[in-house]
Amino acid sequence: MVEASTQVRADLDRLLPLVEPLFTEALQEGEAKRVAEAMRYSLAAGGKRVRPVLCMLAAEAIGSKPERARSCAIALEFIHTYSLIHDDLPAMDDDDLRRGKPTCHIAFGEGQAILAGDGLLTEAFQILATDSNLSPEACVEAVRILSEAAGWRGMVGGQSLDLEGEALTSSGGTYDLEHLKRIHRLKTGALLRVSLELGAIAGSASPLQRGALREAGAALGLAFQIQDDILDATSTAEQMGKRVGKDEGKGKITYPLLLGLEGARLALTEATSTALTHIQSLPNPRSLTAWAHYLAERTA
Ligand code: IPE
Ligand code: IPE
Ligand code: MG
Ligand code: MG
Ligand code: MG
Repeated sequence: MVEASTQVRADLDRLLPLVEPLFTEALQEGEAKRVAEAMRYSLAAGGKRVRPVLCMLAAEAIGSKPERARSCAIALEFIHTYSLIHDDLPAMDDDDLRRGKPTCHIAFGEGQAILAGDGLLTEAFQILATDSNLSPEACVEAVRILSEAAGWRGMVGGQSLDLEGEALTSSGGTYDLEHLKRIHRLKTGALLRVSLELGAIAGSASPLQRGALREAGAALGLAFQIQDDILDATSTAEQMGKRVGKDEGKGKITYPLLLGLEGARLALTEATSTALTHIQSLPNPRSLTAWAHYLAERTA
């Protein structure tokens, strides 16, 4: 079997050219140059592109072509980038480094950064709605599940619970692992879960395949945030391209805090193995399998 990292590199090399040129192409025209510049700045700063790649690989895993999921993949990276811009704002995590560069609000000011986030969020749906490769039914379904996962029932809701949790701990309160799981499932898990589910829709999955991709995505999403918590406690800003040690500094409840580093690593392994079980049920599981291993072992 090919090493997971070799497979991941090969997947990035063949899949990113399908979407990255369009990250900036979609933002060329229009009168408001400054906000478009801020949007391009955050998109072009880099990032691992996990969500768009997983979306295209999900389509491939059920025997479809990754191109079919292209607009879904772009929409996902736009929404994810918006979530990072807003997550970094002074009113939220107040961070000055993201993807190895000054955060959007440091480079463009808070007002333009808020608008760049708003612009990316709305543009994501514009891209989906104008994709002629998706059938009208698939398009409506994609909009429905993506808006649910990104919005208050998903990522936005998780970010809200996260802020509430911070307020609680800073006034001496606490919460348990069940509640932390809920926060992780919403703030990070929802968008990762829908990344795979959008690949299922774009690739015309059977209900069984869509269910498997959804479950795999949910487990990968939990694993991803557990690893983010672990890396915040163990990695460096150079490696991550963002500040680390912030969770502890803010008294934030995380997997390492509740379970210790070893306990957190065990939970990560468990979530990854749940994801792998679902991935193995698909007709073409090779790349997603490699990605599940890579995401659990990632160091950035
Ligand atoms: C960071 O996401 C925020 C979380 C949901 C943990 P990524 O780790 O995918 O960030 P980029 O896209 O690589 O910058
Ligand atoms: C943010 O979680 C998840 C989002 C929805 C953006 P974090 O606040 O832990 O993400 P980082 O560590 O700043 O990337
Ligand atoms: Mg945050
Ligand atoms: Mg943050
Ligand atoms: Mg974090």
